[in-house]
Amino acid sequence: MLKKKLIPKVSLISNSEKETQLCAQHLATQLKAGDIVLLQGDLGAGKTTFVKGLAQALKVSPKKVVSPTFVIMNYYKGKLPIYHFDLYRLGNAKELDTLDFDEYFYGEGVSLIEWPERLGKNVPEKYYLVELQHKGESKRQICISYPSKPQLKSSR
Ligand SMILES: Nc1ncnc2c1ncn2[C@@H]1O[C@H](COP(=O)(O)OP(=O)(O)OP(=O)(O)O)[C@@H](O)[C@H]1O
Ligand SMILES: [Mg+2]
Repeated sequence: MLKKKLIPKVSLISNSEKETQLCAQHLATQLKAGDIVLLQGDLGAGKTTFVKGLAQALKVSPKKVVSPTFVIMNYYKGKLPIYHFDLYRLGNAKELDTLDFDEYFYGEGVSLIEWPERLGKNVPEKYYLVELQHKGESKRQICISYPSKPQLKSSR
């Protein structure tokens, strides 16, 4: 379901929570209003940790970033509005239908989504995909796929 039309991109090993956040901060430099980042990985893989790094780069204190497990979505006011979804506890497709994703996805902010597998038919057309995998106690493999060729900033 996920991964269609994506250009496979960078893959790296993070050796600490801090490194994962640094990696996220690099991705944040690419983000603009209306962008969507899907974060895939097992429990404790580092999805929320990655979101903290993204948020920090968008001028939100990482302390404010908590997994919105019980409310589905948290909003943080940063350089861009941030909509942080955690769909882990989403019950069924019916519950999903009560959420108006489009309102967030194509608005003024960026949407960061943990457990995107639960989106079903609501998977957006274009998204960044961040895959996190356990490789040891504090080691994680991070693979980031881009929706299209990244815009590299000119050095001039
Ligand atoms: N290299 C690493 N990158 C990210 N987190 C790490 C790393 N090494 C250890 N950790 C630890 O792994 C845990 C990751 O937790 P986090 O809440 O970010 O995971 P998650 O994928 O959001 O889990 P959940 O599915 O429960 O939402 C934290 O306790 C963090 O300190
Ligand atoms: Mg989480």
